[in-house]
Amino acid sequence: MNYDSVYTFRLGTVVHHGFGSVSKLGPEATRLGAKKVLLVTDKGVADAGLLDTVVDSLETAGIPYVTLDDVEVDPGTATVDRGLKLLKDEKCNVVVVVGGGSPVCAAKGIALLANNGGSMTDYEGESKYKHPPLPVIAIPTTAGAGSEVSAAFIITDESRNYKFTMTGPDCYPEVAILDPLLLRNIPFWPAVNAGLDALTHAIEACCTNFSTPLTDSIALTAIGLIMESLAPMVLTGDLEAKNKQHLAATMANIACGNARLGLVHALCQPLANYHLAHGYANGILLPYVMEYNLPVCEEKFASMAVAMGEDRHRYTQGELARKAIWRVKDLYITIGFPRKLDEKQVSPKEIPEMVKRAMTRPMVKFNIRRSSAEDLTLLYEKAFQGWEL
Ligand SMILES: [Fe+2]
Repeated sequence: MNYDSVYTFRLGTVVHHGFGSVSKLGPEATRLGAKKVLLVTDKGVADAGLLDTVVDSLETAGIPYVTLDDVEVDPGTATVDRGLKLLKDEKCNVVVVVGGGSPVCAAKGIALLANNGGSMTDYEGESKYKHPPLPVIAIPTTAGAGSEVSAAFIITDESRNYKFTMTGPDCYPEVAILDPLLLRNIPFWPAVNAGLDALTHAIEACCTNFSTPLTDSIALTAIGLIMESLAPMVLTGDLEAKNKQHLAATMANIACGNARLGLVHALCQPLANYHLAHGYANGILLPYVMEYNLPVCEEKFASMAVAMGEDRHRYTQGELARKAIWRVKDLYITIGFPRKLDEKQVSPKEIPEMVKRAMTRPMVKFNIRRSSAEDLTLLYEKAFQGWEL
């Protein structure tokens, strides 16, 4: 932290967490003045029966609802328009979303258009709206992305095949409800990818030029919880591990929402073009970027190792810092996560193009270690070669 600078910490969301916390939905919707709720979700969530307790809570509170239950992955402007029409036709005034990152993005978009009119593309960028969106209550069914406590959201413009981001201080969901019972059906790979996305958020939050003791304290606790709970969550389905992971993923996003992100997310973005899942790509890149950042943030890495359970008094700071990387790699071995990029998914020949795209990402500048295009090239090359413990 640079003590000549001014930092801002923002959190716009009430967070309920724990077993059965979905029962808070009805009272919260009532508090927000809900006359009728637009319930946004996707087919997978609806078919898995995850809406039952959600609907129960609304019905107990006497709040009617109408459902948009077919939000696609990477939702487009047409889905937002369709949701908006349903909301207006049915006179809904609160949006409740149950699902992963895609339905949450659609819900935020619908809520923004409901109070501002126009089309989604009018609002690309930061604070381009006149009026705050309708209230959104987010109930995530994955533990990773953290969009339930994030102001940012991404919509796809189908006509240009272009994804664009909107954000602003009014775009946080009013309420997030983290009920581990809604994670009960999460399959292995979505749980792993979401979990490693959350771990990356927490580790990157410690390694930016915007991190402060306030963001570090949240990120370090999240790192400890994820390292403790991700393996039992995905390998045994342990519900208490899911409970911890759920909270940790939200904490990680609170931390990186303020401290921002670094090189892993910058390098990850071009890999989306080759259909690598966001959390998966982050997971692959994380150990390489940690090695790269180590020389400039040994103290932070040592704190991470202590948060992961290492004894501060047994090792030097340098030894502890290396332990943090060792522990992440050890987690990958435990859960069977790959060590390198798969050349069948993306060719090393694409590296120059990927570097060009990654260099345009603001996270390159946020990262604690300054980097050049040559550094990014080397990082991608290493990510194709693999690591050893
Ligand atoms: Fe992420």
